[in-house]
Amino acid sequence: MKDYIRLLLNNKEWAEERLDEDENYFVELAKDQKPEFLWIGCADSRVPAEEITKMHPGEVFVHRNVANLVVHTDLNLLSVLQYAVEVLQVKHVIVCGHYGCGGVKAAMGNTDLGLINKWLRNIKETYDKHGKDLKDIENEHTRFDRLVELNVEEQVKNLSKTTIIQRAWKNFELPHLHGWVFDMSTGIIKEIINIESGSEIDSIFKYEFPMT
Ligand code: CO
Repeated sequence: MKDYIRLLLNNKEWAEERLDEDENYFVELAKDQKPEFLWIGCADSRVPAEEITKMHPGEVFVHRNVANLVVHTDLNLLSVLQYAVEVLQVKHVIVCGHYGCGGVKAAMGNTDLGLINKWLRNIKETYDKHGKDLKDIENEHTRFDRLVELNVEEQVKNLSKTTIIQRAWKNFELPHLHGWVFDMSTGIIKEIINIESGSEIDSIFKYEFPMT
């Protein structure tokens, strides 16, 4: 019944292990954070950001939601992005999706799932945008995998369309943007897209900033 107690016991064990390695570990950890990476990933329990990249506490600023979406009206995501880019001045923003994503799979279907329809609608728009290419893929599983990749690509482009990123490119020449897909059947991450700081983007999405 009290399954959750296991987590608290694990935590004590973990803290003791850290202290065994370095008696000042938590003194240092409590001081400050200076992560170089912002990770925008899926909430799926099988894709833990730090674990699959062998990162430690303090090294990655993390935001996760269903199907790793960058929605330009999502106050939560935008607040995380602004803080990471302007205050922490991360060097890289990574959007990491994964094959077998339940959110992407649900968006490919026609079942009414209630409130989450509105969230998944963003993926349907991506499907529609690439409809011709996707329809040419006869195997449904291959089409699913491709949509996972296209979804990541679209979210990285969405980042580049924000004033937060464009202003940072102008002021700090950072961050670089990356789109990855994690394959949980092999444990390996595949690189899908890289957008370097300062890259050209479609003119309709480009903002001009007055001289300050
Ligand atoms: Co997912």
